[in-house]
Amino acid sequence: MTKVLLTGGAGFIGSHTGLALLQTGHQVVVVDDFSNGNAEAVRRVAELAGLGPWGQAAADHWAEAGPGGSRLHLIQGDVRSPQDLDRAFAVSGGGIGAVLHFAGLKAVGESMTQPLRYWDVNVTGTVRLLEAMVRHGCQTLVFSSSATLYGTTDTVPIPETAPLQPINPYGYTKAAVERMLTDVAASAPGWRIALLRYFNPVGAHPSGRIGEDPNGLPNNLFPFLCQVAGGRRQRLDVFGGDWPTGDGTGVRDYLHVMDLAEGHGRALDVLLAEPPQLLTLNLGSGQGHSVLELVRAFETTNGLTLPYAVVGRRPGDSAVSVADPRQAERRMGWRTRRSLADICRDGWAWQSANPQGYRSNEWHPTGELIGAQQVS
Ligand code: UFG
Repeated sequence: MTKVLLTGGAGFIGSHTGLALLQTGHQVVVVDDFSNGNAEAVRRVAELAGLGPWGQAAADHWAEAGPGGSRLHLIQGDVRSPQDLDRAFAVSGGGIGAVLHFAGLKAVGESMTQPLRYWDVNVTGTVRLLEAMVRHGCQTLVFSSSATLYGTTDTVPIPETAPLQPINPYGYTKAAVERMLTDVAASAPGWRIALLRYFNPVGAHPSGRIGEDPNGLPNNLFPFLCQVAGGRRQRLDVFGGDWPTGDGTGVRDYLHVMDLAEGHGRALDVLLAEPPQLLTLNLGSGQGHSVLELVRAFETTNGLTLPYAVVGRRPGDSAVSVADPRQAERRMGWRTRRSLADICRDGWAWQSANPQGYRSNEWHPTGELIGAQQVS
């Protein structure tokens, strides 16, 4: 059992990973500024992990122990703030053994119009986090990297050794953080760092209680498609029907977010069990699916019809992006277990039960939260 700090633990991937870690016996401290995450997600993680209902009414009761004997804590804070990070590292007696760093901005288009924000949150935020780790004697880190680093290469599948050639500010910030972490790992003995390059994480926990809840218009295919299915959007625009692929639409490597969450658990186990190292791994299924294949799978699995229209290509897209995931299997015994049908079923379970995401049933804590105790 390790006490793990999750930056951005109230977001899509962070919340699912928090649940997977709780279910394998770890203690979890979430620090999140709720800019693209939601306290309600963490409350539901507590419920799913069997830590009991977690809400205002129970706050007094939990003031002493926290839910489930303080196995889950939530701190509202910003990764760029040393004070917020110190609070998170000190919560419930300190002793954070590892950090999983999800906090960051991730919209490619937005990064082109607001590059400074991306460099500040993604790069400066990671500098502040590493400084806090040094202050608190923690040298184990799992970083959310991205297949975006590989740029528009049409190498299929893409191994970790492929050249890094990002093509937008978001990708440059991920590359910069990978470089920085490589330098940090070489600077002193003892660092255990995993760079996990995600392909296309989609789907939701099968309970339908937690899932992806994008702010405003979704940038990505899967949440957009879910919102079309739910009637929140009229139709899906398919970006390009003339790519050099089987049916002319873009091919991606979609992986179920619970497979990805379990991948983080495996990376943590490997880092803690083996001598200090820097581990760089692709997390993907190794299978490519086109936009239209995903649309058809969603329709068949859920008995729905999705209106769509093929429109022009989106700038910056590539034809195909598929992982070579063999290193992850070799190094940590991990591979995806869930199918495209599982992804479509679970994504729709989340969307249909939460048509407005967490907004339909939001929990608005104020001030700092320690366990279920609220300190304003
Ligand atoms: N697409 C559509 N319509 C949409 C949205 C997307 O047809 O409304 C298509 C895209 O053209 C692409 C595929 O669906 O062919 C997947 O697009 P996404 O936006 O869902 O995902 P990307 O592969 O473009 O990007 C994702 C993440 C990035 C990350 C990248 C790594 O969103 O953050 O994978 O390859 F950098």
